[in-house]
This record gives sequence, C-alpha cells and structure tokens, in this order.
Amino acid sequence: MIKEITLQDLNSDLFIQEKVEDINKIVGDGMAINALSGGVDSSVVTLLGHRALGKRLRTIFVENGLMREGEAQQVVDFFSELGVVVEVVDAGKEFFAALHGVTNPEEKREAITQTFYKNVFGKIVRESGAKYLLQGTILTDIDETVAGIKRQHNVFEQLGIDPQAAFGYKIIEPLIQLRKDAVRKVGKALGLPAALFDRIPFPGPALSARVIGEATPERIDTVRRATTVVERNLKDTSAFQYLAILHEDRVTGMRDGKRDFGQQIEIRCWDSTDARKATPTRLSFEILERLAQEIVQQVPGIVSVTYNITPKPPSTIEAV
Ligand code: XMP
Repeated sequence: MIKEITLQDLNSDLFIQEKVEDINKIVGDGMAINALSGGVDSSVVTLLGHRALGKRLRTIFVENGLMREGEAQQVVDFFSELGVVVEVVDAGKEFFAALHGVTNPEEKREAITQTFYKNVFGKIVRESGAKYLLQGTILTDIDETVAGIKRQHNVFEQLGIDPQAAFGYKIIEPLIQLRKDAVRKVGKALGLPAALFDRIPFPGPALSARVIGEATPERIDTVRRATTVVERNLKDTSAFQYLAILHEDRVTGMRDGKRDFGQQIEIRCWDSTDARKATPTRLSFEILERLAQEIVQQVPGIVSVTYNITPKPPSTIEAV
C-alpha cells in the first residue's frame, strides 16, 4: 500500500531534498535515463533527476507520432531554457505499426506500453548502458490501474510485472505518493515555469487515447487538429483539462449542398482537482458555438461537434 502525501501535508522543499538523495543513493555513480513527454509529471521528474544526477541523466522525448501539434519542439525549447538537453527520438513508425488494426481500448493501451517500454525505450536504455529509468508515475495512475478501470501506460509492479525481468532495467518513481495538485506544487518549488507546471494533463498514450477505434495516422491527424482548436479556445478557462475525441461512428451531414456522411468530434472540458472525480465545466453557449464553428471549418471531414455533460464517474476523463 502506497502512503499518500496530500497537498496539505506536502513540504515541497523537504520532499525535493529527500527525493534527490534517494535518486542519488539508488543510481550511485551510474547513469539513468528518463522519457520526457512535457506533461507535468514527467517534467517534474526530469528536473528532480537533473538536480540529483546532472549530466548523468539522459532525457529523451519520444516522438511517437501521437503528440499534439508542435509538441516536440515546444518541449525541447522549454527545457533548453532550464539548461536541460532533450534528445528527440523519432518512433512514429513503430507506434503506428503496433496500433495497426487495434480497436479495443485496453489492447490499444497495451500496444503503446509494449512499444514504448520494450521496443523504443527498451532499445535506447539497452544501448545507453543505463540501469535505471526515472519515471513520473503518480498515485492516481496506480489507483485506476489496480481497480481495473484503465491500464495506465506506466504501471507495472502493482500488476505483478517486474520491469527488470520484462524490460531489463529498474524503474525509479519519485512521485508515486503524490496526486496531480501536489506534483504541481513540487514543480513550482523546483523552478518549473508556470507554462509547464500549470499545463493541463495529457495522457501517456497521447492522442490515441482520444480516438475511438483504430488510431491510424489520418485519424490521429484529425483529432490533433481538433485538439489545437479546443486548446486555443479554452486555454483561459480555469478548467482542469480539456480535450477533443474523434468518434468512430459517422453521421449524415451536408456540405456545399451535398450529403456528407462525416465524422464526429466530442469536446470534453473538466473541473477537477485530482482527476479522481470530475464534472463538466459550465462553458458558455457562446464558447461552445465558437468551438463547433472552428472545428467544422478547420478540421476536414467533421460534420458534428458535441459537448460531454456527464461527470466522472461514470464517465472517465479520456475516452479510451
Ligand atoms: P481518466 O481518463 O482515467 O484519466 O479519467 C485520469 C487522468 O489521467 C490521465 N491519463 C493518463 N495519464 N497515463 C498517464 O500518465 C495514462 O495511460 C493515462 N490515461 C489517462 C488523464 O488525462 C486524466 O488527467
């Protein structure tokens, strides 16, 4: 049982000091590696790791072909300003090959997990000689995986999987006792800019968690364009998270006076503090109308835009 450190109980400076010491003790004079997605959790782990290990931590951004528009460059630029070098590894082909023909949500998640840990990252770690992978797993990831709700991409030990045996390296998880709100506080204390510690959460399986059915390059591109519109329009709300989902079933629409059996985008926008429970944000109808208008104009093939009004539970934040 992992003991939670709540936002109220968290002393960020003490926490940082302890984790830096822990990481140093575990890694010794060896080296470690970590994957940075640019999300809050992996950003905080990257800074903790660099504080502990300096150049003995190699930080990699895996371009899995499922990220948002301009994401890789943005993350590289942010961290370069913080003095951290981020290597970008292009692995889109591997991920799309693994996702080919996969429609079941849990199988999709598993395909991403295996591709990431075994093939792409596994290979990098093996070649680098690093024995440790530093990872930003948080308590909510563990809860939902253990409860059998969603197999989060980064949970192993609690499912009886030994990463050392399965992938050939050990995993260090300094944020495992925290939830999102507490991770943000640590990020702030580490000197992470607000643009990073206040970023809305983004899931490990990236945009493939937002495509119902097969995640092909074309369908990912569609949801990516819709995501850009949603994020641009909702960035000034104080919502916890907002996203676009591409549905699988088509509906009859019309364009230029002709029938268009087109695709559907669902918008979700959540109020929440820690992602365990969430309620749809009461967006104004004006904003909703603008979103619909921009999405049908800017995203090819979309003829229907809806807004989710169901709380979590029974909904979840992502759709896959
Ligand atoms: P759900 O969809 O389970 O999401 O209500 C709860 C929070 O977790 C994020 N999420 C993930 N984060 N790996 C992650 O690191 C994952 O596999 C994953 N799936 C969902 C989601 O964006 C939300 O903030």
